[in-house]
Amino acid sequence: MSQQTLSERETKDAQNAVKSDTKPNTKKLFIKTYGCQMNVYDSERMADVLAPVGYAPTDTPDGADLVVLNTCHIREKAAEKVYSNLGRLRKIKNARAETDRPMTIGVTGCVAQAEGREILRREKSVDLVVGPQTYHRLPEVVAKAMAEGPQVVTDYSVEDKFEHMPLARKKQVQARGVTAFLTVQEGCDKFRTFCVVPYTRGAEVSRPLMQIMTEARSLVDAGVREITLLGQNVNAWHGESASGIPIGLGELLHELAAVDGIQRLRYVTSHPNDMDDGLIAAHRDLPVLMPYLHLPVQAGSDRILKAMNRKHTAEKYLDVIRRVREARPDIAISGDFIVGFPGETDAEFEETLALVDAVRYSQAFSFKYSPRPGTPAAGMDGQIAREVMDERLQRLQSLLNRDQLAFNQASVGKTCEVLVERKGKLPGQWLGKTPWLTSAWFEGDASIGDMVTVELVEAGPNSLRAHLS
Ligand code: 5AD
Repeated sequence: MSQQTLSERETKDAQNAVKSDTKPNTKKLFIKTYGCQMNVYDSERMADVLAPVGYAPTDTPDGADLVVLNTCHIREKAAEKVYSNLGRLRKIKNARAETDRPMTIGVTGCVAQAEGREILRREKSVDLVVGPQTYHRLPEVVAKAMAEGPQVVTDYSVEDKFEHMPLARKKQVQARGVTAFLTVQEGCDKFRTFCVVPYTRGAEVSRPLMQIMTEARSLVDAGVREITLLGQNVNAWHGESASGIPIGLGELLHELAAVDGIQRLRYVTSHPNDMDDGLIAAHRDLPVLMPYLHLPVQAGSDRILKAMNRKHTAEKYLDVIRRVREARPDIAISGDFIVGFPGETDAEFEETLALVDAVRYSQAFSFKYSPRPGTPAAGMDGQIAREVMDERLQRLQSLLNRDQLAFNQASVGKTCEVLVERKGKLPGQWLGKTPWLTSAWFEGDASIGDMVTVELVEAGPNSLRAHLS
C-alpha cells in the first residue's frame, strides 16, 4: 500500500486483534503490530498458523512464551521503534531466562525482510527473523529456533503461502469483531522512487478468485459483516472467473457482493492508474460497496510526480476523482501525501496545496519524506532540510484538517447506516462507522454487529455524534 501503502491508519488496537481463548497447558503468544492494515491481517494469520501447534493469544508480552514484533519499514521512525521495543523485551527475556518459562522473540514484517541478519547482529535477544512471504512456515521456524538457535527466513518462497495457512477458526474470527481484512493482492512492481515496498513485500501477486471467495465465506459464516480487501496495489488485482475469463477488482467486488451475509465491502490501497472503468462502475452499481476511496497522490506537482516515478500527472489524478464522483456522487475521498521529496521547491509544494483544495478530502495521511535504504530517491540531490519539511507538513495538515472537519460538518443532518463495531467508553454508548468510514457514536439499544439507521447530529474533527432513528 503504497504500503499502507496500505494507508497509514495507526494500528493501536492491533495487539488486541487476537483475543485470548487460552486453554490450560497451551503456550502464550503475544503479537505487536506496527504499520499498515496488511500487517494487522498478517498478525491474525500468524496467530491462526500457530494455533494448531499450541499457541493461544495473550495481550501482554510479560507472560508470553513467544513474542512477535510484526514490523513496518515504510519510514525511518517506524523501523527505529522496533529496536527500542526489542531493548525492552530483552529485559523481560533475561529475567525469565533461568525460569521454566523462557521467552522466544521473533521479528516479522517488512523490517525483518529488509534487514534480515542485521537484526540478530543489533539485538542478540532475537530468536527468529521471518519475512512476510514465509509466515506459513512459522511453526517449523519457531521449533527450529528453540532447538538449534537463531533462524533467519527471508526468501521469497515459491509456494503460495496462502495455500499453506489454515483458515481462522470460527471462535477466533468472532473474537476479532464484525469487520475483517482480507488480503487479495500483495507486493508491488511500480518502484516509486521513494518507496521500499517492492523490496520488502516482493513482486505483485494476486490471490486466485476461489481462494478469496472461500476465505470471505468463512469470515461471513463466523459473523463478519464488513470485509476490507487489502493490497499494496489492490486495484491492480486480476484473476480469472470460474469460466476462465480474465477479471479485475470490479468483477471481484461483484462476486463478493453476491455472498449472502456480506453487508459492506471496502478496498485499500489503490493507484490512480489502475482505477479502470469496471471498478468505477462498481461504485455506481453495488450498494454494498461503501462510498469511500483511498487514493494516494503523494504530491501535486507534475515534476515531483515524475521524479517519484508515479506515471501520472496531477490532472490525470483529478480526472479519476471526477469520474469516480460521477459514478458515486457522495463518495468520500482519502489520500496519502509526502512533503519534502528531494528537490521539491516551495512553488511545487504549493501545487500540492492547490490539489488538496481541488479534491476536498474527507480524511488523509501525510508524512515527511523519509529516505529509505536502497531506494533511488534516498541518493538524489536536493534532500530537503527538516525545518522546511516540518513547516510544509504543518501547512498541509491544517488544510487537510479543515477539509476533514468540513466533510464531517456536511454530514450533519444526514440519515445513514452505521455498523456497530464496539461499545463506547460510557455505559449505553456504541461506536461504529458510517458508509464514509467516519467514526460515529450513539446511545441506545443496540448490539455489536447490528446495522442501525441513525441521524448524524453533531460533527467533531474525528467523529460524529448520532441518534438512533
Ligand atoms: N517517506 C515518507 N512517506 C512515505 N510513504 C511511503 N514511502 C515513504 C517515504 N519514503 C508514505 C506514502 C504512502 C504511505 C503508506 O506512506 O504516502 O502512500
